[in-house]
Amino acid sequence: MTSLWGGRFEKDMDDIVKKFNASIAFDKRMYNNDIDGSIAHVTMLGQQGIVTKEEADKIIEGLEIIRKRISNGEIQFTVEDEDIHMGIESRLIAQIGDTGKKLHTARSRNDQCQVDLRLYVKDEIKEILHRLYYLESVILEKAEKYADKITIGFTHIQHAQPITIGFIFMAYFQMFRRDIERVLDCYERMNLCPLGACALAGTTLPTNRHTTAGLLDFAGPTENAMDSVSDRDYSIEFLSAASISMMHLSRWAEEFVWWNSSEFSYIAIDDSFCTGSSIMPQKKNPDMAELLRGKVGRVYGDLMQMLTIMKGTPLAYNKDFQEDKESLFDAIDTWKASVQIFAKMLENTEFRMDQIEKHLSKGFLNATDIAEHFAKQGIPFREAHEIVGKMVKTCEVKECDFEDLTEVELQSIDSRVTKESLGDISIKACVDARVSFGGTAPTEVRRQIKVGQEWLDGLDIEVQ
Ligand code: ARG
Repeated sequence: MTSLWGGRFEKDMDDIVKKFNASIAFDKRMYNNDIDGSIAHVTMLGQQGIVTKEEADKIIEGLEIIRKRISNGEIQFTVEDEDIHMGIESRLIAQIGDTGKKLHTARSRNDQCQVDLRLYVKDEIKEILHRLYYLESVILEKAEKYADKITIGFTHIQHAQPITIGFIFMAYFQMFRRDIERVLDCYERMNLCPLGACALAGTTLPTNRHTTAGLLDFAGPTENAMDSVSDRDYSIEFLSAASISMMHLSRWAEEFVWWNSSEFSYIAIDDSFCTGSSIMPQKKNPDMAELLRGKVGRVYGDLMQMLTIMKGTPLAYNKDFQEDKESLFDAIDTWKASVQIFAKMLENTEFRMDQIEKHLSKGFLNATDIAEHFAKQGIPFREAHEIVGKMVKTCEVKECDFEDLTEVELQSIDSRVTKESLGDISIKACVDARVSFGGTAPTEVRRQIKVGQEWLDGLDIEVQ
């Protein structure tokens, strides 16, 4: 039979079975990892005397030739290859002859596909970390630039309290900080090597799994062979981290869309990050933000797919697991591209302070500050809240601001209230006074920036 596993078969696979069974179309992107894994494996086989040193060298040389031939397009895989593992092994045997048949000693595709995938994800995590790092650096720069620029803080999309724009940036900084920490945590747990677990139960051959783990830059081998080949937790953890991070990007993208709307006009996104309309000549649409908001759906779907694949599978390997790759690759591609585009869009966006100022006087943004001011004068906060509520009502009837209320009107609301007792209720004074730890005052935002910068500088991520 034509397949490398065909010994006990009398017939070839039906064509539609071949097609349905094959994973080569998507797992070929792991070819470098597969070759790295094989080189580490055969190096160990040579060291352990399972194959001779010469055989190991010949196989390694052959694998490097195959690597080159794949990268220069000379080797084109087809469904006949079934998967990347068979595709490379059969090419190796064709390249160097019978010695190539010794490569698959003391391993199975069950551990092989997992070492490949872990190596692949580990590399991609490094790239994702670079991109998140870059995003955090952009956020810190913008936070500094807008540390004392005031805008409207919303709750229920209604004017709530005045805040600094730097404060908004630092809120998102915390979210992406958690994303970085989550993915680092996931990396650490997945940084164990399943190679050598074989089909499910290890091997009778005198392998050394610590050697292969070390050669492949893992912290060590996985502990239990059966768990090694049937575990996809790392993939689910990665997809969870990706989903949460995408959700953060999507939330901010949503804010971008309405900050950019004709009604708000709080921001100006550079032309190079917007698109036009094919019919309405005046349009400049925030398509990148909307696409980002849309992309999160794919990643949630990827996570759901993986959770669902795993829920009914017994130990150990099941072919269901072959479906673990496309969703993971999709999430990696989507997350990577989304972080990159968001960081660049952020860099190319400025706040329109003239527009924001027009809205700052609306919505009694300083109402809470006045109530707190009364509380400082000894009025219980509940009563202060009630007094300011009545002031708002009077202003609404008169269509005026707090500053326009007369002494008589204030006194009729509560005898303890005078124009004098209101104190400085300018929006700037309100913001400057919110110095509680984690608050919005510029001084406090600058403290948060400092802490954020120190954390970022302390990260062990090479910056490209
Ligand atoms: N292409 C397979 C996968 O990705 C490789 C493992 C095949 N193992 C097996 N027992 N059929 O899951």
